[in-house]
Amino acid sequence: MAKIIFKQPDGESVDIDARNGFTLMEVAVNNGVVGIDGECGGGCSCATCHVYIDANFIDAIDPPTEYETDLLECIVGYTERSRLSCQVKVSDALDGILLTIPSDQGLA
Ligand code: FES
Repeated sequence: MAKIIFKQPDGESVDIDARNGFTLMEVAVNNGVVGIDGECGGGCSCATCHVYIDANFIDAIDPPTEYETDLLECIVGYTERSRLSCQVKVSDALDGILLTIPSDQGLA
């Protein structure tokens, strides 16, 4: 179990207690987080699950695969903290992580 914090571009945030094993995208979609659509269902092909990872947690997450990196680099707003939330699974190590939703996806 981990507390996941989704922050909208306008500064509003929501805390969700998430069970280990689910992806961050699944947690967002299952809880109606605006801006995380997960259109491809986690297939790493739509990028509608793009988030910015809290810098304090970068090392707690496995690095992106080459396939994910290729897609990330095509996204407007890509930064070194960008991840596809469908490719990151909840674990105890992520307790308290802040995920910021890009301004072109969420509530601005
Ligand atoms: S849900 Fe489509 S790339 Fe993540």
